[in-house]
Amino acid sequence: MNILVTGSKGQLGSELKKIANKNQSNDWFFTDVEELDITSSSAVTDFFISNSINICFNCAAYTAVDKAEDEPELANKINAEAVRNLADACLKTNAILVHISTDYVFDGENFKPYEESDPIKPISVYGHSKANAELILKIHEANSVIVRTSWLYSSVGNNFVKTMIRVGSARPEISVVSDQVGTPTWAYDLAEAIVKIYQKCNVAKAQLLQLSHHL
Ligand SMILES: NC(=O)c1ccc[n+]([C@@H]2O[C@H](COP(=O)([O-])OP(=O)(O)OC[C@H]3O[C@@H](n4cnc5c(N)ncnc54)[C@H](OP(=O)(O)O)[C@@H]3O)[C@@H](O)[C@H]2O)c1
Repeated sequence: MNILVTGSKGQLGSELKKIANKNQSNDWFFTDVEELDITSSSAVTDFFISNSINICFNCAAYTAVDKAEDEPELANKINAEAVRNLADACLKTNAILVHISTDYVFDGENFKPYEESDPIKPISVYGHSKANAELILKIHEANSVIVRTSWLYSSVGNNFVKTMIRVGSARPEISVVSDQVGTPTWAYDLAEAIVKIYQKCNVAKAQLLQLSHHL
């Protein structure tokens, strides 16, 4: 299998590298914006075709939630329009797209944990851009899986857990907002989970193929 990881210098992409090191039976292609800018439709198509990509873990994103309020076009270009580029390329090479989404597609007004089937209702520019990607994939013919996560943390980059450890070790007392509820997700756990999800999709795809041969 030829596996493409986009945005691979980020938190999730970096953890997928650790899994790839233990899984030498596949060919992994780790790219970030310098090697493959996912907003370029032609570059994405060329990459998929020349490397016969079978699966794409899309870890590339515009993740600066507050900054996105001032850069809505750029956020939408990377988080939504570029996802269409990846889906188009997946359709051409019959690849599966595993796309990462977020709890920001909801408005946060629920008093119970969200379920997959709850209606999306983004309230921020970042949330809208990620919701747009989900809507694109839902009607796209390419095989895709959307995995929503929240509050990712790892040793790479900035995240809530690292901030709390840094601030907590420098001050005797810290104040944080109390009106936000979230579940921190260790990026390595998510990396393992999305590889498992892909493996299940692949088994289901093979079974469907076998079934269609019998019909
Ligand atoms: N972080 C969270 O708390 C969180 C929560 C929920 C969902 N998610 C989602 O989970 C996924 C992974 O998040 P993460 O925390 O690993 O993100 P991250 O650390 O910000 O990594 C994203 C990577 O994508 C790269 N990138 C940006 N524009 C690109 C482009 N046009 N082409 C290719 N690569 C590009 C970024 O490069 P630059 O750094 O140079 O921009 C960065 O290396 C994203 O879809 C995100 O929306 C994250």
